[in-house]
Amino acid sequence: MDSLLIHGGNTLAGEVRISGAKNAALPILTASLLTAGPLQLSNVPQLKDISTMLALLGHMGVTVTPGEKNCVTLCGENIPHKEAPYEMVKTMRASILVLGPTLARFGEARVSLPGGCAIGSRPVDLHIKGLQAMGAEIRIEHGYIHAKAKRLKGAHIAMDVVTVTGTENLMMAAALADGTTVLANAAREPEVVDLANCLIAMGAKIEGAGSGVVTIHGVPELHGAAHRIMPDRIETGTFLVAAAMTGGKIRALDAAPETLVSVMGKLADAGAHVTQGDHWIEVESDGVLNAVDVRTAPHPAFPTDMQAQFMALNCVASGAASVTETIFENRFMHVQELRRLGANIEVSGHTALVRGVPRLDGAIVMATDLRASACLVLAGLVAAGETTIERIYHLDRGYERIEEKLTQLGARIKRVH
Ligand code: EPZ
Repeated sequence: MDSLLIHGGNTLAGEVRISGAKNAALPILTASLLTAGPLQLSNVPQLKDISTMLALLGHMGVTVTPGEKNCVTLCGENIPHKEAPYEMVKTMRASILVLGPTLARFGEARVSLPGGCAIGSRPVDLHIKGLQAMGAEIRIEHGYIHAKAKRLKGAHIAMDVVTVTGTENLMMAAALADGTTVLANAAREPEVVDLANCLIAMGAKIEGAGSGVVTIHGVPELHGAAHRIMPDRIETGTFLVAAAMTGGKIRALDAAPETLVSVMGKLADAGAHVTQGDHWIEVESDGVLNAVDVRTAPHPAFPTDMQAQFMALNCVASGAASVTETIFENRFMHVQELRRLGANIEVSGHTALVRGVPRLDGAIVMATDLRASACLVLAGLVAAGETTIERIYHLDRGYERIEEKLTQLGARIKRVH
């Protein structure tokens, strides 16, 4: 298993080009199941999760033709295997996203229930409930979701909880349903909007994506399209926090400032100097930061995927601040690891109280999930001495060439096998 070795203490400065968003690319790849036409995608990040999804789609029958850098063309003309097997789903829960499109286009689908995951139980009951509301017959047997529907019918669905992939699954299913579907209490994340834009380019009739109520008028069929994946707002946020913590100056290029308003606000509250242009964001800091309270909630509030990164920032800021996680029940596994680096954190329920310390000390730490690993990289960049982060396969799921990008910014970091 690979590890990352970091010598902390360097300030980071320069420009970094942001990759395409993992959480937009994953649902958009599954949209290839909705049409026999070619789906030409660009700015697709080269990540473990993306290759996992391409392998699953290939297994189902989608032809995957890689193009030049970060481009791929998918064609779902023939889909002999309308199923997502456990072996594939267990490595990536986003595989559940093949359920809606496969059922909508072919009238049947067999998808393994995703198991639990490190950050929480993450049920998919709302995906299933929504499809049943559209007329699907669904039974759960031997750990698989067996879904059937002659043709899905439009329905008015109020989602009990805001769910990103739930909204995406139902939006894709509704695109080919007979009649109109209204998703109330829908997720408003920018990745949901990016998927909607791609579906609209394929001929779908969707209104209100990005608001809490999405209306989809079903059409008989969709056609191929070309779509460029939006920038990854979480990768962007992670690099901006690195600039603030190391007391440097980083400009993130190919970014989308309009998707990071809450994160940019928090960085300014912490005392960093934040400026932006249409497609770039820059953060400059002298490294002297105030601790900032954060409370995660669905977009446009502060994103749960940036919670661990801001916990790292608070560890070395002056003062105390609370970090409250309201989305997942177990997304504080980075706390134990940060404590090994000398952080002062007390957890009670869903809130961690972080008291800034003058300095973190390098140590061996272990990545437990994707964003926790990013948090440990940030902490290692400012810790005195050497930090080794083990099990960085978690990191490779969501960050494209992170050690290369950080090295270009002046970090002393290398991958050890
Ligand atoms: C998406 O996961 C993202 N993944 C996650 O990013 C992100 O943390 C999460 O949204 C929240 O923003 C992708 O987009 C591939 P949810 P998702 O369904 O859709 C409960 C990363 O680091 N819920 O919005 O699985 C659930 O338990 C990953 O890139 C139900 O109760 O999250 C959770 O408490 C991690 N029933 C809450 O909703 C359901 O049927 C939000 O989950 C579905 C969800």
